[in-house]
Amino acid sequence: LATLYSYNQFFKSALQLLKQNGLYRYFLTSNKLANTFPTFKYTNNNSQVAEAINCCSNDYLAQSAHKKVIAKAAQIIELVGVGSGGTRNIAGTTIYHKQLEETLANWHKKQAALLFNSAYMANVTTLQTLGKEIKGLIFFSDEKNHASIIEGIRGCKNEKKIFNHNNLTHLEALLQSVAIEAPKLIVFESVYSMDATIANIPAIVALAKKYNALTYVDEVHGVGMYGKNGAGIAELQNIQADVDIVNGTLSKAIGCFGGYIAGATDMIDFIRSKGSGFIFTTSLPPAIAAAAITSIQIIEKENLLRKQLFTNAKLFQQLLEDGGIDIVPTQSHITIVPIGSATACKQISDILLQHYGIYVQPIQYPTVPLHHACLRIIISAKHTPQQIKYIANSLNKIWHEDGYINRQKFQTITTSVAAG
Ligand SMILES: Cc1ncc(COP(=O)(O)O)c(C=O)c1O
Repeated sequence: LATLYSYNQFFKSALQLLKQNGLYRYFLTSNKLANTFPTFKYTNNNSQVAEAINCCSNDYLAQSAHKKVIAKAAQIIELVGVGSGGTRNIAGTTIYHKQLEETLANWHKKQAALLFNSAYMANVTTLQTLGKEIKGLIFFSDEKNHASIIEGIRGCKNEKKIFNHNNLTHLEALLQSVAIEAPKLIVFESVYSMDATIANIPAIVALAKKYNALTYVDEVHGVGMYGKNGAGIAELQNIQADVDIVNGTLSKAIGCFGGYIAGATDMIDFIRSKGSGFIFTTSLPPAIAAAAITSIQIIEKENLLRKQLFTNAKLFQQLLEDGGIDIVPTQSHITIVPIGSATACKQISDILLQHYGIYVQPIQYPTVPLHHACLRIIISAKHTPQQIKYIANSLNKIWHEDGYINRQKFQTITTSVAAG
């Protein structure tokens, strides 16, 4: 008699394996509060309501809780309703979508912009569409590029060359290895959020010009924070006009939701006409588009928040260094504490939350490579100096006084728990 495949067994075993390897994903359910950000409430293991400081949100400037952004979203929801009711092609393009695209194009000093429901979708759709439609297009992709970039490049089966992270010598060698006539696209990020590194965009653009390649930069962790008007690293490095395609998000520093690309009119019109992930999905809620415009206007006008973000990040990074905690050297607003073992990382994160009321989600595979688990700590523009000192002191205690400096010890504890 044939043995029937057990789907249930498949899921059970796969989940068990994830748990054994410390790679199972636990989400903290938070009761996010606009008025008290970064502090929030949650229900702890003893079913009691507890308070914690959020130290891993991408709401870098707390724009999701900005009074004017909230007011705009509320006003437009009242006026037009919640959902857009259609794809961009079929009844889903409103004045708010068009105004937001114009705002984004101007911000990035580009002719046009195109909205997507996330930067993830913008990456997948744009890269796949370019790969499928430009015959023989070769991708040159930084090895640390985000999952959405990898997914986009994989989806179109074009030839790809992966260059070592931020390594221009390697990139140039790879560019030289293909015919000069071949169409090429260099894809990279401006701020790598899991490595806290920043790309040298002018140098990449110079190589692109030398070898007749297009450039595509993911500015998801740059927009809203860097540059005179907060348009990102390309603005900071004074190279905006020379980058061909910019990808950004409305969901992080801008505090709303959605993603986009910006570039030359014809290229944007082409993706608008051909990109499956743009065409076949309901457009962003109009109120979200309107709120994003307000948020960008605030960011452009007020650089105080941006300054505060960097002052806070620097203070925190200095306090960790003073306390002897290894962090990845960085010029960015992101603080990475490498841990290694996913299990150890989860343990530290649990202790931070349960004993100190500090929420730092452990970062594990596949977000980072296996055995490269880390704490990715975000100190927003709204964390107070007292909170920053408290967070640094608490980590210090875990590292030194609580005896957890020996990371091996974490593994030993966990292995014996798992074995027992
Ligand atoms: C580098 C990078 N690109 C793209 C994305 C996707 O952005 P979104 O959340 O808008 O989909 C992320 C999100 O985490 C990211 O880190």
